[in-house]
Formats: sequence, C-alpha cells, structure tokens
Amino acid sequence: MPVTIAKLQEAKKQRRPIVALTAWDYVSAELLDKAGVDLILIGDSLGMVVLGYETTLPVTLEEMLHHAKAARRGVKNALLAVDLPFMSYQESPQQAIHSAGRVLKETGARAVKLEGGYPAMAETVRRLVCAGIPVLGHVGLTPQSIHKLGLRQQGKTPDAASQVLSEAVALEDAGAFAIVLEHIPSSLAEQITQKLIIPTIGIGAGPHCDGQILVTHDLLGLSDRQPPFAKAYANLRQAIALAVEDYCTEVRQRQFPG
Ligand code: KIV
Repeated sequence: MPVTIAKLQEAKKQRRPIVALTAWDYVSAELLDKAGVDLILIGDSLGMVVLGYETTLPVTLEEMLHHAKAARRGVKNALLAVDLPFMSYQESPQQAIHSAGRVLKETGARAVKLEGGYPAMAETVRRLVCAGIPVLGHVGLTPQSIHKLGLRQQGKTPDAASQVLSEAVALEDAGAFAIVLEHIPSSLAEQITQKLIIPTIGIGAGPHCDGQILVTHDLLGLSDRQPPFAKAYANLRQAIALAVEDYCTEVRQRQFPG
C-alpha cells in the first residue's frame, strides 16, 4: 500500500516511528522500497556520496532530476521526496515553484524538501503548499549553509535553540507536512517533536523524533567520510574491495572464466 502524507502524520499520532533513507538510483530505491522504508529521499547529499563533490553546493537541479527519475522507477510504496538543490529555490517563491514543479512533473516524486525556516523561507513554503506541492522542511544543521554554519551541531545555546524551534514552528504554520531535524541536541529535538503536530524526522538529533533518516551510503558502510552520528549496519566498502580483488586475481591467473 502506498505511503501517503496522511499515513506519515497518522504514524506520529500512533507513536509508530517513521523510517526514512536516501536513495540515488533505481536499484537502491527498489531495495529500500521492498524492505518497507516509509519515506525515500533523493537527498542532495548525492553531491558528496555519488558525484564526489566536497559539499552539496555544486549539485544542480538537472542532476537531482536525473537521479530522482531513476529512483522513482524502483519505488512502488514509499513516499518519494526530492531535495531542491542549492540556489534552485532561495531566490524567490517563483523560482521555488518553478523548480519544485519540475521535480513533481518530470520525476513522479510526491514531495520536495528544502532547507531553512527563516521568515522568507517559510513564506516560500506557504506559496509552494498553496500551489499543491507538498514540502518537507529541514532545520538545524542545513548543509547548503555550510559556509555560514560549518558542519557543527546547531541549537546548542538557549538563543540558538529558540531560533531552531521558531523555524520549525514557522514551517509547520506554513504548511510543511513534516520536518527533518539535523544535528541538534536530543533535548531540543524532543521539545520540537512535542510542540509540533507534524512529524519530525531526525538525523543526529537523538531518539525522541517521530522518525529517523540516514544517508544510505553511511548505513551500508559505503561512504569514505561519515558524520559522527551515523551508524553503519554493514561494511560494503570492504565487501566490494574484497570482491574486486578476487576478480582481479582470478582474471590475472586465468581462473575466470573457468
Ligand atoms: O541530503 C540528504 O541526504 C539529507 C538528509 C541527510 C536528511 O538532507
């Protein structure tokens, strides 16, 4: 049964944790979908984990569309959301509607995610939602602001915590259907989760969020650089290296093909 926004919001009421992961292509999306992941995000972390950029900033809308289309073909049930990349929505609500419209029309995804909840961004979210485009918010550490925030934990002082809280509230008021809370203290994530009616989905935000998201490359042990809060459930870097070394040896020793 397809996961809808209403079902995610129902999950919060029933205190059933929401499971979310990132995908980058057909096969990863298909595997995640078959495993029963609720929300699949084509995250702009694609820039680092797949395209080899240093940050998410160089990622283009065309790159997001390309990967989202591939992933979409693997998804039957999960709710598919796509990150709007840096500078594809910050200029104006019109630019955001244009970019998000392309995502929904060209990929078949059902929602977009964007970063920040400061007043102008909350207004952009309101305009997107009015245009019929579901929006997943994202506050706390917002990697598209790396040159302003670094990759440090956010919301640590009382002032910074109330800033993150007020951005989350502004996004809910603007009509976001859920909010990603990235790399903030667990106590702040708990406070936001209790205050909001919509679900919170945490990454590096402790156990009190309504759901959790990880970058799938981190979960699989495929990344060459992992954030401190990620957990690897497998070591695919090692498994792939061993398989490729075995293949090299067998070809060079004329053992394969047999
Ligand atoms: O781009 C991404 O993968 C994300 C998640 C870390 C939430 O935004």
